[in-house]
Amino acid sequence: MNNEYITIALPKGKLFGLSTDLFEKIGWTAEGLEEKSRKLVITNEDQRLNFIITKTADVPTYVEYGAADIGIIGKDVIEESGKDIYELLDLGFGKCHLMMAVPKDRKRPTLQDYAHTRVVTKFPHIAEKFFTSQGMQMEYIKLNGSIELGPIIGLSDSIVDIVETGTTLRENNLEEIVNIMDATARLIVNPVSFRLKFDRINAMVNELKKVLQSQ
Ligand code: PRP
Repeated sequence: MNNEYITIALPKGKLFGLSTDLFEKIGWTAEGLEEKSRKLVITNEDQRLNFIITKTADVPTYVEYGAADIGIIGKDVIEESGKDIYELLDLGFGKCHLMMAVPKDRKRPTLQDYAHTRVVTKFPHIAEKFFTSQGMQMEYIKLNGSIELGPIIGLSDSIVDIVETGTTLRENNLEEIVNIMDATARLIVNPVSFRLKFDRINAMVNELKKVLQSQ
């Protein structure tokens, strides 16, 4: 019986409300499903659904191990995690891009001029892959938030971070040097869950596709 439940991992933060709105449109919801809920597993017993609310970077881990069957998360986080999960749908929302930025007053003539400098980021794997592809060795410092502080207080020369509206860059006098990747939210699934619960997950994907097409 337990097998018949579908567990969905949703990230706290900007994607949470967009994700619950989308699921609501196909009738997948649960009483008390709110970002600020202190209850970590929110169940809809009639529909056999469990929602779990997790830190953004942890969604791929829950899905990789099958603790959650499906999840919603940004392409940037999927790439950074390197986890073995299937991407089922590009949901279109949560549009942003990952880029390198530096303080405006310390801008150097070319990208190569930043070789061997320090970069702070939440995305060290993507950053390293990118700079290596440019033939550049860098020193990476991982931070978990407020990345823009790095160069401002002299911890680093640059940042690799997400830009959505550009407000954070502007307010901190930072300038984008190079775009590294574009990202949107994706629906991901554990490969084994997809096989074992194929009918239900596949029907859900088809419903979601219809909603996305009508938007
Ligand atoms: C993200 C990102 C930037 C900001 C970009 O941070 O790391 O700081 O949003 O958005 P903008 O271009 O619309 O200003 P988030 O709000 O997730 O918080 P964090 O810095 O604590 O990770």
